[in-house]
Amino acid sequence: MANQFDVVVIGAGPGGYIAAIRAAQLGMKVACVDAASNAKGDPALGGTCTNVGCIPSKALLQSSEHFEQASHHLGEHGVEVQGVKLNLAQLIGRKDTVVKQNNDGILYLFKKNKVEFFHGVGSFAGKDGDNWQIEVAGKKAATLNAKHVIVATGSAPRALPGLNFDEKQILSNDGALSLESVPKRLGVIGAGVIGLELGSVWRRLGSEVTVLEAMPTFLGAVDQQAAKEAHKSFVKQGLNIHVGAKIGEVKQTARQVTIPWTDSAGQEQKLVVDKLIVSIGRVPYTGGLEAAKVGLALDDRGFVTVDDQCRTSLPNVWAVGDVVRGPMLAHKAEEEGVAVAERIAGQHGHVNFDTIPWVIYTSPEIAWVGKTEEQLKADGRAYRSGSFPFMANGRARALGDTTGFVKVLADATTDEVLGVHIVGPMASELIAEAVTIMEFRGASEDIARICHAHPTLSEAMKEAALAVDKRTLNF
Ligand code: FAD
Ligand code: NAI
Repeated sequence: MANQFDVVVIGAGPGGYIAAIRAAQLGMKVACVDAASNAKGDPALGGTCTNVGCIPSKALLQSSEHFEQASHHLGEHGVEVQGVKLNLAQLIGRKDTVVKQNNDGILYLFKKNKVEFFHGVGSFAGKDGDNWQIEVAGKKAATLNAKHVIVATGSAPRALPGLNFDEKQILSNDGALSLESVPKRLGVIGAGVIGLELGSVWRRLGSEVTVLEAMPTFLGAVDQQAAKEAHKSFVKQGLNIHVGAKIGEVKQTARQVTIPWTDSAGQEQKLVVDKLIVSIGRVPYTGGLEAAKVGLALDDRGFVTVDDQCRTSLPNVWAVGDVVRGPMLAHKAEEEGVAVAERIAGQHGHVNFDTIPWVIYTSPEIAWVGKTEEQLKADGRAYRSGSFPFMANGRARALGDTTGFVKVLADATTDEVLGVHIVGPMASELIAEAVTIMEFRGASEDIARICHAHPTLSEAMKEAALAVDKRTLNF
């Protein structure tokens, strides 16, 4: 039969494209359907992550950090730079180039692994015997037949009720990654990951940024010692952050956006800005999939219902990534994609939800894995804690970046590492060691006995592990 596949994957974000490649590696005939296009109408593979998420945000964070360093900090190193100027078109253009390199990289990987790519919207048309039929609506329409389908259709930004994204004044992550000029006054609703990362980008580039957060606690899901340390830095950098803010009805004119809000003391306040980023979480995306037509069950929040193996309510239909429960992270989507491909091949794919790392790529970076102190206390688990400040780390001093600390939490009896929390330089890279130790169910003493190169930031991890046993060597 024409267009007969073992597996059809719908969506080429990190969940979908990785699932497709892994299934092809395992000898299956695989197709992947993705609807995203770039400005020229060409396929833009890689999903939210590549087009309007992880990759472009990190490109802008890097460029804006260079601008901040050149404007304010290089002098400390004896590097005198005069007349630092921002070329925003170049900065955004570079980001677009990085995105395109990643888009094209995935197309190349598909060719290399013999994954057949279809550009268009994929929808369930029905079932013929053992085969699911997937229709592709695009420049080249097609009907695909496959024994297995993996749904990896991702997520979309959540809007405030009654306030649509126009991506000019009311911005989701999409518009906030491509502004044509630096807004003088920028409002951000939601002090979550996107609000802090993109708020930081535009603050560094010159905006006066005000962040309004509904919850009474700053970064409530993060270890509170780490959250407080980061909050101190953000405020020092000039981010205006208000927690416990209740947002009223937002009003727009051609020139500005007015946000009435009530502060945590119950006082009425008014924020007037040129542009507003709304970053209050994301919702699963199943548009165009025709889930109802085949009875694919969604839960009451719109996520595709899956069991712990990523099986949906339909036989041989699987779902992974942001469109199913669990953290909305690219690496979680990838792990699920690999596990599902392996399960289809009869193997025992596995995702360990207890060791999924989180990173917020602000300055300082915040990274963690496992339990926070607050969670351990709530669980009534006896634990020991060891911390080490970057201020006492030679490499951090040499870098001129001594904010923050590493904290290791270990079981009081067995010494098994239960959580690691890092605020500081390169926390995103340092957390990998903690993930590895936890994956092997290692102890804090294991980290303490491992030889770490000197001088490196990673020595702060070793010292924090030593601190669990109250025997730091350098503090
Ligand atoms: P997506 O990446 O959303 O991909 C889904 C794909 O499916 C899209 O290409 C879409 O066009 C396509 N699609 C949907 N429906 C159909 C259909 N019916 N037919 C065909 N195609 C369809 N995570 C991290 O881990 N680290 C980060 O640093 C990070 N930064 C982020 C920054 C921002 C600003 C945002 C918004 C997100 C960030 N994330 C980050 C989250 C990350 O982007 C997501 O967790 C990840 O992209 C989810 O992958 P996915 O494959 O499930 O879905
Ligand atoms: P988020 O869940 O991280 O933060 C949303 C924030 O908005 C929360 O603090 C919430 O309390 C607040 N909020 C919700 N409703 C509100 C309201 N009406 N008024 C004021 N505040 C309100 O969501 P965000 O930042 O939109 O990001 C979505 C997801 O994308 C993240 O959860 C994460 O999974 C992913 N992401 C990951 C990144 C990373 O790994 N570095 C970077 C960016 C996004």
